[in-house]
Amino acid sequence: MSGAPRIAVLLSGSGSNLQALLDAHAAGHLPGTFAQVVSNCADAYGLERAAAAGVPTQTIDHRLYPDREHFDAALAAALEAAGIDLVVLAGFMRVLTPVLLERFAGRVLNIHPSLLPDFRGLHTHERALAAGVQEHGCTVHFVTPELDAGPGIIQGVVPVHSEDTPEALAQRVQAQEHRVYPLAVRWLASGRLRLGDQGAELDSRVLEAPVRVHPEDTLDLPA
Ligand code: GRF
Repeated sequence: MSGAPRIAVLLSGSGSNLQALLDAHAAGHLPGTFAQVVSNCADAYGLERAAAAGVPTQTIDHRLYPDREHFDAALAAALEAAGIDLVVLAGFMRVLTPVLLERFAGRVLNIHPSLLPDFRGLHTHERALAAGVQEHGCTVHFVTPELDAGPGIIQGVVPVHSEDTPEALAQRVQAQEHRVYPLAVRWLASGRLRLGDQGAELDSRVLEAPVRVHPEDTLDLPA
């Protein structure tokens, strides 16, 4: 990658994280170009958000492929055809395989709605409440073939209240997703963040643990 990166966002649903990224970009806080939004679902609302922002969209329906590997090959080909440097997963409900990840090694980010390594997989808010944790949140991490297990970059931490419903907790977590994801993408797009042999490196220092931020913290990127 040389110069301002071309960024693709992959999504399957609402795309509120895409919106946060587009808003940060429009405000001048993110270097690079949002060059493509790809969904596996033709009716994902995130595609409308992309179109409204003038970002080219594409649907690649996973059901048309015999297995994950063939789907990933089609996806990787579409990303390469668009000259994509960085791939940002924002509610993309497909597990990626090495077929794609090896072609974009160290260049794929995901946001997961829990404080990883707790609660990998689905239904994280329900599980956090059932476990009785006092803190919950979201994690931005590099994507590796093992699901939700790539090196962590930044976490948005929120308190869990005794009267919380999964919906209330999800809303509190999402508000933090919309703060930390633009920041992590900015770090990657500006070359401050990379995936090294020891894990995520920010400003050439290995992150022993993800950076943790709380709702009251001011980030060096407006929300
Ligand atoms: C977010 O909660 C994110 O953590 C998870 O999928 C959800 C996507 O939400 N990976 P949205 O489509 O960005 O609103």
